[in-house]
Amino acid sequence: MRLRADFLVIGSGIAGLRAALSLVGTGDVVVLTKADPRESNTGYAQGGIAAALGPDDSPELHARDTIAAGDGLCVPAAVDVLVREGPAYVRELIDWGAAFDRDASGGPALGREGAHSVRRVLHARDATGREIGRLLWSRVSGDPRIRVVDDALATELMTRDGDCVGAAFITGDGAQGSVTATHTMLATGGAGHVFRETTNPAIATGDGIAIAARAGARVADLEFVQFHPTVLNVEGAPRFLLSEVLRGEGAHLVNEAGERFVQRYEPAGDLASRDLVARAIVREVERTGAPVYLTLAHLDRDFVTSRFPTIARACAQAGLDLASDRIPVSPAAHYVMGGVETDLDGRTSLPGLLAAGEVACTGVHGANRLASNSLLEGLVFGARAARAMMGPPSPLRGFGVASPPRAGNPWPSEVVRWPRPAGGPDAAVPTPFEVRDLMWRHVGLLRGRAALEQACGRLEAWAAGSAAARPAHGCDRDFRRIDSLVDVGLLIARAALRRQESRGGHFRADFPSRDDLHWKKHIADVWI
Ligand code: FAD
Ligand code: SIN
Repeated sequence: MRLRADFLVIGSGIAGLRAALSLVGTGDVVVLTKADPRESNTGYAQGGIAAALGPDDSPELHARDTIAAGDGLCVPAAVDVLVREGPAYVRELIDWGAAFDRDASGGPALGREGAHSVRRVLHARDATGREIGRLLWSRVSGDPRIRVVDDALATELMTRDGDCVGAAFITGDGAQGSVTATHTMLATGGAGHVFRETTNPAIATGDGIAIAARAGARVADLEFVQFHPTVLNVEGAPRFLLSEVLRGEGAHLVNEAGERFVQRYEPAGDLASRDLVARAIVREVERTGAPVYLTLAHLDRDFVTSRFPTIARACAQAGLDLASDRIPVSPAAHYVMGGVETDLDGRTSLPGLLAAGEVACTGVHGANRLASNSLLEGLVFGARAARAMMGPPSPLRGFGVASPPRAGNPWPSEVVRWPRPAGGPDAAVPTPFEVRDLMWRHVGLLRGRAALEQACGRLEAWAAGSAAARPAHGCDRDFRRIDSLVDVGLLIARAALRRQESRGGHFRADFPSRDDLHWKKHIADVWI
């Protein structure tokens, strides 16, 4: 299949779908998506979407909380865009018919999550992403001017004279295809599956980061991975997310003895930011040698089951009653703050290539994302990148591999060049489990030099194996999955080894403090 479009959008989560809706009518739009179009991280989002809509809230307050969670590395201009433009995009969803829960006065009911100073999270029970995904997909699928090609796995960005001119893909039955486009947007989402324990669905293998890095685009801040503190920890059951909103609505974290323990480590207690709560859990498990639990037994049963029907069902499938049982929990990889480096309009360093949503690194989340800011990011920056694609060609020149720091970023930035992984004679290709297990054990929640060095060594060898196998196995989807996991794993591990401090989602047991003097900076990697 050979297609030609003005605009190619890769990915059908919130960022890709919102972008496609902006582009419609201004040129030919093709959306490539690797699975069913409704399968994305977006569809699994539980807690909600943050927007300063409440009477006690303001964009300034939302910015303050976002920047505090970002632990000194948020790009203030990106935060400003998010919090100021966000409310209009959320109101647009409401106008389009999003069935958000309502309060007694008929306005959107606002929930509370960790590190938010006020209630500002709009939600549709505990399945907000499903509702937003449904709404956006109904608009995209109902518009004949958008061509959606599903089961189409983008494998490579096509470049000509240093510009991105589209992407190659493989279909479900392994046939090759391509889309030649004037402008290409990556909206491929996150990379949770690089880790053995994750909240993410299987599509989240970081493909967009891998293919952009291989095409020579700058990727940045990849050491910053968010580990969600509370996923269901029952042997044999999926690592189902137990939303932070449970704690926002009064659930407590307790140890085996039934004692609340988070405050022993973090003064803000159960609603401290995610990285802090996740590490408090690890420490308590180490201290006691026993699991920790979420308990809602002190809350009203009807409230619990009506507010959290999806979570209650998942617990029931594991033989637990959310309203009365203690629910065993542990942390898991949830979100990647880093990604393909962009400016405020989604432009990357590679001319013709844009990125939006979780795959992108605008710097809006700094070193740690504030809960429920990601769906908002997908809407706001998906629409902005689409606007940039519609503009005159000149602004679409990429900012270039060697360009100075992004606009609006007051901190220094550094660009590190690496030789692109190349195949060696004895290079081996690992299994997905080998990569994911290594990443979880050596590049997970608590990091240290020796384990990171070991991980980098293994991943470098595996990346050589993958590069060697690519020409022969390029149309094999299982191979492509491993290919992404290995390259993204390597980028994350190298970044984690390099940053000798602890900040946000990145915790080095050998450098446990934040060190602004040496490390208050964004670091981008380029493969040459
Ligand atoms: P996604 O929604 O992940 O979409 C990516 C798309 O790209 C998919 O369609 C995928 O199939 C496609 N794709 C990927 N690779 C390729 C390829 N190679 N070729 C073609 N297509 C490809 N955030 C919040 O703000 N609030 C929440 O309450 C919340 N809860 C969450 C709960 C869970 C369990 C999870 C996993 C995440 C949650 N998040 C939440 C995070 C948020 O859902 C995601 O960050 C956000 O939805 C990402 O949107 P996106 O459009 O960037 O990517
Ligand atoms: C959650 O509901 O706890 C997840 C929210 C998010 O990732 O923003």
